[in-house]
Amino acid sequence: MTDDELLDAARMARAMAYCPYSNFSVGAALIDENGQVHRGCNVENAAYPQGSCAETGAIAAMVTAGGQRIVTIAVAGGSTDRTGFCTPCGGCRQRISEFADENTRIIVKDDDETWHKYSLADLLPSSFHL
Ligand code: THU
Repeated sequence: MTDDELLDAARMARAMAYCPYSNFSVGAALIDENGQVHRGCNVENAAYPQGSCAETGAIAAMVTAGGQRIVTIAVAGGSTDRTGFCTPCGGCRQRISEFADENTRIIVKDDDETWHKYSLADLLPSSFHL
């Protein structure tokens, strides 16, 4: 699967976001070590802290399907009137870290359709590990 195809999967997941409180829709799609694709969208809640991020949903889907390693994760998100430049939030960087290695790639496109491709060390330097 190409990076563009994975981003398309993230954009399709974004279309399913439940975000009536923020109007900030996010989709994530990841490929695991088995070549399987898992997707997630943000799901908000009237009790705000109970909402969950798109990356969190995609990671939960991966683990449920038996995956343990994120090869590449694409994220698309933003205010619902924008095309969708969104890098993972701090909490999701830590969640990605749990299933990442030095080759894991985090890929997003900005509003000009320009690629930004990161390693986890780019986004979460000196990260916490037990
Ligand atoms: N959100 C995500 O789904 N992923 C991120 O990495 C950033 C934030 C969601 C959470 C909330 O539903 C909305 O975006 C606004 O913060």
